[in-house]
Amino acid sequence: MNYKELLKYEKSFDPKDWDEMEDLAHKMVKDMFALLKDIRNQPVWTQPTDDSKGAILGEALPIEPKNLNKVYQDIKENLTPYYKGNIHPKFWSWVQGTGTVSSILSEILVAGLNPDVCTGDHGAMYIEKQVIDWLKKMMGFPNNASGILVSGTSTANLTALLIARDKATNQVVRKQGMLEYNSRLIIYTSTEAHSCVIKAADIMGLGINSVTLVDTTSEFQIDVQKLEQAIIEDRKKGNVPFCIVANVGTVNTGAIDPLDEISKICKREGLWMHVDGAFGAFAKFAPSHKKMLKSMNAADSLAFDTHKWMSLPFGTGCLLVKNKHHHRNAFAIQPDYLQVHARGLASGPDPIFNYSIEMTRGFRALKIWMMLKEQGLNKIGEIVQQNIAQSYYLGELVDDEELLELVTPVTMNIVCFRFVPQEKMSEEGLNKLNREIVVELQEFGCAVTSHVYIENKYCIRIANVNHRTVKEDFEDLVKDVIRIGNTTKNIFK
Ligand SMILES: Cc1ncc(COP(=O)(O)O)c(C=O)c1O
Repeated sequence: MNYKELLKYEKSFDPKDWDEMEDLAHKMVKDMFALLKDIRNQPVWTQPTDDSKGAILGEALPIEPKNLNKVYQDIKENLTPYYKGNIHPKFWSWVQGTGTVSSILSEILVAGLNPDVCTGDHGAMYIEKQVIDWLKKMMGFPNNASGILVSGTSTANLTALLIARDKATNQVVRKQGMLEYNSRLIIYTSTEAHSCVIKAADIMGLGINSVTLVDTTSEFQIDVQKLEQAIIEDRKKGNVPFCIVANVGTVNTGAIDPLDEISKICKREGLWMHVDGAFGAFAKFAPSHKKMLKSMNAADSLAFDTHKWMSLPFGTGCLLVKNKHHHRNAFAIQPDYLQVHARGLASGPDPIFNYSIEMTRGFRALKIWMMLKEQGLNKIGEIVQQNIAQSYYLGELVDDEELLELVTPVTMNIVCFRFVPQEKMSEEGLNKLNREIVVELQEFGCAVTSHVYIENKYCIRIANVNHRTVKEDFEDLVKDVIRIGNTTKNIFK
């Protein structure tokens, strides 16, 4: 190969025509704003057509360049109309943040500046440090605590459990592995905990069975007596209890475990207290729930997502750790090529890779930083409180309807109910009927809910973290559920 010949025609990915690119950028932002401005008048969900799926899935690997205007045309035809729905005011499925208009702008800046926020003396490192400091303050963690932005609560929980394991085993497992440690390490959480806790135990090599799922009370909170009993039994067997994962907002019903009691058990037994507050941690900013969550900061670590109740783009989870040294001890590693220098770009704050599973990391912090500055904590709290109030309102609407059954009392932002026709119907028939209602709500584009089984009853489940919802949306939902229930009930008799 003649290298010198090749280097006569050096290329880059930059546009040939910057003005054309700028026009397209304005068009994209304008289109996105138009979509969001009018989203209430659009269906909540539109199933991708066979043509749109075929156009995406059947396309040959692009070898030659295509004008970006044409690429955008493909997006407008085959992607935009089939959005997931969580941007819509009538979307209450799983626990999915709605997104904000200003996040569109922060994503542009993140991609434009494109820093790897891992190490070094550059602006993004300080934005991340400040964001962690703000999040610590928001959640009542001390100034000298540490924190890390991660993809989501699944990763935050895994990160916390690794730190807890290393503290409990005095680094033996980190250095020598489980074989050398030679005892079974046990995590406790309730049967209502999110499955990512079990997955974390699996990834850590502890094994799925090392998570003891403790029964809950009728309020779906961990049964503290059973928890204490399980710890005693494990110790008798020679197992090593090391962590309790308390839930602040369970995924099924939004239940909050008794934090004071769990904290006492952890102190007495020498266990790490981790809180999974994926969405529920934000209830702290609602006056109605503030008191209930006042002991959340008793935890050794707290996981939550700003992409749920703070409406930020996905991929913005957080873990806070009270003892910075335990956090650092679990991840610090110092290869020569990552040596920190006294001056220059390779200087700066303690590298984030010393606290993180990831090495190269995106600029998650800017989105949080911009949102906090733009909206302020008070407004975030008001939205959280509004969503809780709307959920209680929906609970009352359901209670007032003869054909609807509120399956669990509303305690926060989750509402679980079902349609029960006057005609007698088996439990199996009711389950099938309610599943049909959930699917038809989606297919008609009226609303997107998810489902949960409570004592084998299939329930329509609303998780309300939606800043675009207004109370009339729940009035419509109740009407739509009853209408679909009445028109389809005969199929399932
Ligand atoms: C209580 C709880 N924990 C953990 C998770 C997992 O969070 P992520 O999807 O951000 O990893 C969720 C997701 O909804 C959740 O509700």
